[in-house]
Amino acid sequence: MESLLIKGGVPLCGDVTISGAKNAVLPIMAAALLTREPCVIRRVPALSDVKFMGEILTWLGAQVRFEGDSVCIRANKIKGTGDYDLIRKMRGSICIMGPMLGRLKKAAVSLPGGCVIGARPINLHLKGFEALGARVTIANGYARASAKRLIGAEIFLGGRAGSTVLGTANVMMAATLAEGVTVIDSAACEPEVVDLANFLNAMGAKITGAGSPTLTITGVKQLHGTEYEVIPDRIEAATYAIAAAATHGEVTLRGARYDHLHAVFDKLNGAGVRIDRKGSAITVRRNGRLKPVDITTLPYAGFPTDIQAQMMALMTLTPGISIITERIFESRFMHVSELARLGADIEIEGPSAIVKGGKPLSGAPVMASDLRASAALVIAGLAARGTTQVNRVYHLDRGYEQMDAKLRKLGARIQRIEEQ
Ligand code: EPU
Repeated sequence: MESLLIKGGVPLCGDVTISGAKNAVLPIMAAALLTREPCVIRRVPALSDVKFMGEILTWLGAQVRFEGDSVCIRANKIKGTGDYDLIRKMRGSICIMGPMLGRLKKAAVSLPGGCVIGARPINLHLKGFEALGARVTIANGYARASAKRLIGAEIFLGGRAGSTVLGTANVMMAATLAEGVTVIDSAACEPEVVDLANFLNAMGAKITGAGSPTLTITGVKQLHGTEYEVIPDRIEAATYAIAAAATHGEVTLRGARYDHLHAVFDKLNGAGVRIDRKGSAITVRRNGRLKPVDITTLPYAGFPTDIQAQMMALMTLTPGISIITERIFESRFMHVSELARLGADIEIEGPSAIVKGGKPLSGAPVMASDLRASAALVIAGLAARGTTQVNRVYHLDRGYEQMDAKLRKLGARIQRIEEQ
């Protein structure tokens, strides 16, 4: 296993190019299962999760060819059952179920199970499939859905924590090939859902309302191949913005979408970080002392749960008390105990973390527990005195394209080594 060795205390300075969005490209790759014709997807980040989705689609019978930052997927003939162990390994792979059901009128996938960030149920995905007329069963570790015909319906997809991103994606994909009109209410509004809807429309689907809580999908007989470029990764962009602030640096984000980042930039502004926009370049600059901000994670356009850990790392460097409340995933605080190893003072009270910031952090060996927690530890390590070793970097490689190389280009002293 590999680790990152970070010598902290260097302000990050320079330009960083933002890659394509992991959480957009995964369902878009799955959506290519909806047609026999080839789909070419561009601005595909080289991530282990993306490679993995390629393996899942290949197993199902699709031809998947990566070339530079593109992938061409041709799903001439596909199986109705996904590989149990492959799917189980990556929670995001649940989004193959909707397209399989839409195309074949049957789908069997292994249940994703829980993970370190929370329970990750799929009850809302299944509720949506049932509303479209599918019979849904769970047995032997598989969720199965099958129908003679899928028929458009009115579906309320709100859950305990609000909308569901992949649940919306799954039901929307299945509904593209249903008969009649489907209306999804309390749909997720995330830019990744909008990107998927745009891709599906480019394939010949008829979807309106993407980006709002009400999606209308008029079923069509078939979809066709297309070429498409995915949106930039707003979570990657926010991570570099926070890293710039944490290190007293000045970083220009190239290719990021400002309009996808309002909630994050608003909080960074509140913390005393300057954000300037010039054309498509966004420059993030820390001028003086940071100020504490309180944060509550919410579905889009609220503050993203995928940035909660990184923002917590920043708040540990901020004199004063900030309260960070996690409303999407119940146990997404695994980074707290690792940040404590670097000297952070954080207390967990129910869904909130109370960060008493401002004490200097000092480097230590720490362990990444999930993708965004790893990013938080890297940020803390970049700001800490001395050397931080972040172990289990494979978590980071799931969702950040060449993070160590990009950080090195910004001046960070960071090195990838074999874990010792
Ligand atoms: N939920 C249910 N029932 C369901 C589905 C979800 O109760 O059937 C609950 C979840 O337990 C959670 C909430 O709804 O409390 C929101 O979960 P959601 O379904 O939106 O999450 P997801 O679609 O499984 C995607 C991203 C996550 C990101 C969340 C929230 C992908 C591949 N994953 O997951 O990304 O945190 O949306 O924005 O798109 C990451 O990139 O690090 C990551 C975890």
